[in-house]
Amino acid sequence: MCGIIGIIGNAPVTPLLVDALKRLEYRGYDSAGVATLINGHIDRRRAEGKLVNLEARLRAEPLSGTIGIGHTRWATHGKPSERNAHPIATDRVAIVHNGIIENFQELKDELAAEGRRFESDTDTEAVAQLLTSYLERQMTPEAAMGKAMGRLRGAFALVAMFSGRHDILMGARRGSSLAVGHGDGEMYVGTDALALAPFTSRVTYLEDDDWVVLSSSGCTVYQGETKVERPEKKSGLSGALIGKGNHQHFMLKEIYEQPAVVGDTLQYYLDPATRTVRTPAMPFDWTDVSRLTMTGCGTAFYACMVAKYWFEKLARLPVEIEVASEFRYREPPLPEGGVCIAVSQSGETIDTLEAMRYAKSQKQILLSVTNVPESAIARFSHAVLPTLAGPEIGVASTKAFTTQLVVLLSAAIAAGRARGTLSRAEEERLALAMIELPARINETLNMEGDYRRIAENTLAAARDVLYLGRGSSFPVALEGALKLKELSYIHAEGYAGGEMKHGPIALIDDAVPVVVVAPSDSIFDKIASNFEQVRARGGKLVLLSDARGVAKLGAKAETSIAVPDIDPVVAPILYTVAVQLLAYYTALAKGTDIDQPRNLAKSVTVE
Ligand code: M6R
Repeated sequence: MCGIIGIIGNAPVTPLLVDALKRLEYRGYDSAGVATLINGHIDRRRAEGKLVNLEARLRAEPLSGTIGIGHTRWATHGKPSERNAHPIATDRVAIVHNGIIENFQELKDELAAEGRRFESDTDTEAVAQLLTSYLERQMTPEAAMGKAMGRLRGAFALVAMFSGRHDILMGARRGSSLAVGHGDGEMYVGTDALALAPFTSRVTYLEDDDWVVLSSSGCTVYQGETKVERPEKKSGLSGALIGKGNHQHFMLKEIYEQPAVVGDTLQYYLDPATRTVRTPAMPFDWTDVSRLTMTGCGTAFYACMVAKYWFEKLARLPVEIEVASEFRYREPPLPEGGVCIAVSQSGETIDTLEAMRYAKSQKQILLSVTNVPESAIARFSHAVLPTLAGPEIGVASTKAFTTQLVVLLSAAIAAGRARGTLSRAEEERLALAMIELPARINETLNMEGDYRRIAENTLAAARDVLYLGRGSSFPVALEGALKLKELSYIHAEGYAGGEMKHGPIALIDDAVPVVVVAPSDSIFDKIASNFEQVRARGGKLVLLSDARGVAKLGAKAETSIAVPDIDPVVAPILYTVAVQLLAYYTALAKGTDIDQPRNLAKSVTVE
């Protein structure tokens, strides 16, 4: 959600803070702000809207100072406005915060009773006022922070700067991520290693309930009142990774990176010489697993949905899937010794993390599929299956999803092999089909003009769009609909083709494009029937199939594209690229903000 940064050094920090905020803007972009200390006093500049507004403000009213904090916001408490933008400050302390202080109202009532006046609608101000109250009782900033940690409930990361104290910055985390960067005579604290990448590759990741005191030459980490050691690690992220290259949008760049990152992920999970899947050692034996539970949110949940087909078919393993935000509150009984797989690009999504906590309480073995090996979700797991997608900046998930699918298919094959439900010949055949993926994705990308034409001529003017699929193409239909709505703001829904006649068919008329995701697989004839049902009601059909499918049905569609031929088991990965291109070019035609769609943020660290 929000992005936070703090820098303590000897040179002017405002340009560095703004530079870091540019790298964090994908996390939230409804307002932004920076604060520095000048002659011991907190001074700040804040602006509603995108970071460019803050930059304009800073050009008009520059901010000096060698210690400072910055924030880019996705509003939770209080609408996006300059008044609610962070840093939130009193005359004693300035705070930037990501997450939610769940007991903010209780704290606010208590602090208001002391006579304190609140100036914003944020939960963050309760922390600023709480610290101020402690400081006014002559506590040191260290004592105040230590005590405040005992009072705050919720999942949060925050950085604080204290008036009169040019020598320290403080950070604290519970649930949300926070990392310290080590420089030469300069120290940094920020949401993640990506934010710190231009400054340093020497990073210390904080653990839950840690709070840290930074000076310009080092840091000390505490848990409660006890000093704790946290290792310094080398981050592999470079500052350069963040650019858009020659692409107009991060999303397009990330779509185009898929042949490479799918290839990298395959290289990690497959031995091409022997056509054998090789997953990291697991803390359990697949033959002992009686049921698999999978959870995630949004696109990551659709990865679970596709994987359910794979685990059930290839490993004959019963799989329960549920969106993480529902899963934990349903409190489902889970078999002791069962395995729970959490899927999350960011590794930060709070609903997913909380679902894992529930699964842990039910004695499940926790596996995570994530793109951020240092993330909270990764660290909470017993084992991690990494995706090698590289940083994903576009808010709409693209390469993270296709690499999640590669990882999950590899795991399903490994499970099938271990459980004796998948023959060696089958494994080799599937491995070969996976090895073909980067080339087939490239061929799909080479046809971008066809997708663009459909987007411009058929989708961009629509008010509603339906996506249909069956079997493992059903989650691809859901993913296509999600991508279209989040990017172009066109109402879109995905349905299992067979369900259409049970209700959604009422929506069909000649103004509603229906995108049919239909590789030639064992249930092609079934989706072909659903296709005919739409056609009979005058629906505008957009067919995504392979050459055989297009030969059978293409003439009956308003428009069709022949997706490259691929084994049906891996088809969801390839057809995902097709629906990504449709969504991207529709949004481009509509002129929406593709990388930063309205109301969204990249990492959802609040419930
Ligand atoms: O970081 P995560 O994979 O846990 O994020 C889950 C969802 O928030 C994410 O996939 C979201 O649905 C994207 N906006 C989809 O494009």
